[in-house]
Amino acid sequence: MTTNSHRPKDPFPISIAPMMEWTDRHYRVFMRRITEKTLLYTEMVTTSAILRGDRKRFLDFDPIEKPLILQLGGDNPEDLAECSKIAEDFGYDGVNLNVGCPSDRVRDGHFGACLMAKPDLVRSCTEAMKSAVSIPVSVKHRIGINGLESYENLKNFIQVVSQSGIRDFTIHARIAVLGGLSPAQNRTIPPLRYEDVFQIKKEFPSLRIEINGGIRDLDIAGSLLEKVDAVMIGRAAYEIPYLFAGVDERFYFHSRPCPSRKEVMISMIPYLEEHISKGGKIHHVLRHTMGLFHGLPGGKYYRRKLTETMYSEFPSVKFLLDSAMEKVD
Ligand SMILES: Cc1cc2nc3c(=O)[nH]c(=O)nc-3n(C[C@H](O)[C@H](O)[C@H](O)COP(=O)(O)O)c2cc1C
Repeated sequence: MTTNSHRPKDPFPISIAPMMEWTDRHYRVFMRRITEKTLLYTEMVTTSAILRGDRKRFLDFDPIEKPLILQLGGDNPEDLAECSKIAEDFGYDGVNLNVGCPSDRVRDGHFGACLMAKPDLVRSCTEAMKSAVSIPVSVKHRIGINGLESYENLKNFIQVVSQSGIRDFTIHARIAVLGGLSPAQNRTIPPLRYEDVFQIKKEFPSLRIEINGGIRDLDIAGSLLEKVDAVMIGRAAYEIPYLFAGVDERFYFHSRPCPSRKEVMISMIPYLEEHISKGGKIHHVLRHTMGLFHGLPGGKYYRRKLTETMYSEFPSVKFLLDSAMEKVD
C-alpha cells in the first residue's frame, strides 16, 4: 500500500501544466510513454493565432495525446467562443482560459494574468465559451496580481467567474507581479499561498479546484489531494519526466507496468524516424527528453551526448540514442 492509499474522487487528479515552448506535441507524445492517464494541456495558443494563423499547425495533435485540453489566450468573448468550437471540432477534451500568464507581451494584448482585475470580463468570456461547446471549459489563474493580492479579491474573482456556470478552476498559488518581474521570476519570487487555495475549496465545495505551484513530489501531491480536487504539476514534469512513472497506478488505479527509461526512448524510435522522414529535426523531439535520466549515473552523459549530437549529422536514430544511453543502466 502506498502512503496515499485514499482513492481520489476526481477523474483527473493529476495534470501536467500548459507550458509555452515545452508542452508541445512532441513532449506530449513522449510523456504518454510514461503516463497514459495524466491530463495534459497544450501550450497557450492565442485566439488570433487560431483565427488568423495556420490553424492546423497550432491545433493538430495525435489521438495518443488525449486526454488533452487546449489552453487559449484571449479576452474577446466572441473570439474565445469561436476558438472553443474549433477546439471541440478538433477533438480536444476541454478548453482552458489563461488568466495567469504575466509576460509583457501577453499583458500588452490585455489577456493572461491582467484579467484577474476584470472578473466581469472573464465571466463574459467563459459564458461565451461555455455556450459554444459541450466540452468542459475551465480557467487557470493566479491567487492575485499586484494591487489585488488579498484572499477577498481571489474569492470575489471566483464568485463572479463561476456565475458563468463553469466549475473548473486551476489556481497557481502565487500572485503575479505585473510590470515588475519576468515570467520566470513570477514563478519563484512571490510566495506560495496554498492555504488560500484550500480555503477556496472550503468556501466553494461544489467547484472543482486544482492546485498548482511548486509541487515536485508525488507524496506532496497525494497529501494535497486531501484538501483539493486535483493537482497540476509544471516544471517538475518537464525537468524530471520519469516522476510520472508511478502516476497511473497511484492516482488513476490503472495498473500497467511502466516501461523503463531506456524502453521509453527505444519506443520513441519509430516516432523519431517518422518525424525526420517528414522533414523535422530530431532535436525538436529529443530536447524534451533531456531530463529522463535525471539524478541517475549516466544521466549527465546522456544530456551531454544528446546536446553534442542531435544538432549534427548522425548515422541512425538508434545509433544516436544507443550512444547517448551508453552509460545508463
Ligand atoms: C516554460 C514555461 C512556460 C509556461 N507557459 C505557460 C502557459 O502557456 N500557460 C499557462 O497558463 N502557464 C504557463 N506556465 C506556468 C505553468 O503552467 C505553471 O503554472 C507554473 O510553472 C507553476 O507550476 P510549477 O511550479 O509546477 O512549475 C509556464 C511555465 C513555464 C516554466
